[in-house]
Amino acid sequence: MNLKILILPGDGIGPEVTSAAVDVLRAVAKKFGHSLELSEGLLGGIAIHKTGGPLPQDTVDKALAADATLMGAVGLPEFDNSTPEKRPEKGLLGLRAALKVYANLRPVVTYPQLIDSSPLKNHIVEGTDMLIVRELSSGLYYGQPRGIILEKDNDRAFNTMSYTRPEIERVTHTAFKLARNRRKRVTSVDKSNVLEVSQLWRKVVTEIATQHFPDVSLDHMFVDNAAMQMVLNPRHFDVMLTENTFGDILSDIGGILAGSIGMLPSASLGDNKGLYEPVHGSAPDIAGQNKANPFGAIGSVAALLEYSYSLVKEANAVTAAMGKVLASGNVTADLKPKGKPATTVEVGRAVCEAL
Ligand code: IPM
Ligand code: MG
Repeated sequence: MNLKILILPGDGIGPEVTSAAVDVLRAVAKKFGHSLELSEGLLGGIAIHKTGGPLPQDTVDKALAADATLMGAVGLPEFDNSTPEKRPEKGLLGLRAALKVYANLRPVVTYPQLIDSSPLKNHIVEGTDMLIVRELSSGLYYGQPRGIILEKDNDRAFNTMSYTRPEIERVTHTAFKLARNRRKRVTSVDKSNVLEVSQLWRKVVTEIATQHFPDVSLDHMFVDNAAMQMVLNPRHFDVMLTENTFGDILSDIGGILAGSIGMLPSASLGDNKGLYEPVHGSAPDIAGQNKANPFGAIGSVAALLEYSYSLVKEANAVTAAMGKVLASGNVTADLKPKGKPATTVEVGRAVCEAL
């Protein structure tokens, strides 16, 4: 197969983890006889520096021409006080919109090898295996009207959380289809005791479940309780379906369950394009130090193989290689290894060798 992939290293630790992930991609392609057609582009703070904006047209064109995009991370503290248009994150939101990716899959697994890396007690995190399906194209992130009005003694800022029925329906279908290949249980997370948006969300999710997925069980949870249940009883969850902002927040808790947020991969899917990125941010405090955990990025390569190309054997080979490296204890500092921590480059190389 010919795999046409755009690489967007981005900011902070993005280039380091992406470089390790691309090495793994090359190794797995070679092993299974696939050819790679890789292009590279600018996104985020680095794009602002080089082109004046966080999402150059060239990047959008390349992403639309590729089957899949593999991204590192975006965000730099120097842009913290910039106007909304000149922020690295705006580039990522623009890219998600351009690719029309609406379902963001964030698997959270506690690997037995990492049970001591989590700050939570072993008996709590043991056996965690959940998939957060975060709606990615709507809600507060994109809702109109939005803005800041600065008026003497009367400053005001506002955002709109809005969902249409079709927006809820399509991501619900994604979540339930995925649940069918797992433990057949969906927990939908909302705030329907307060928000109208959540009331519609709950109604539509319930209808789709009843009409199309009688074989999958559905429960509902308020988002505040869901945050608590994730650290109290994470094994309750199989597939968690939720809207954009709630999913952003809850998926960081996933990092606590998996031992480090550096472990978490993600896949953002639409009707034909896929965007793959680790859940972690750009971590400017450790950027350029060869310390960052590349497993989130490498796991995103496995997701890319599986979801953009249905190359399940190849994806499983990457996951198995990651498992071997985890078991060897040759891991980065965030996972609190017993011996000397490994570097980003060493972990990447070890995964390639295990492949
Ligand atoms: C994530 C990140 C992004 C988001 C930021 C960088 C815009 O936090 O993917 O979780 O909020 O979606
Ligand atoms: Mg986030």
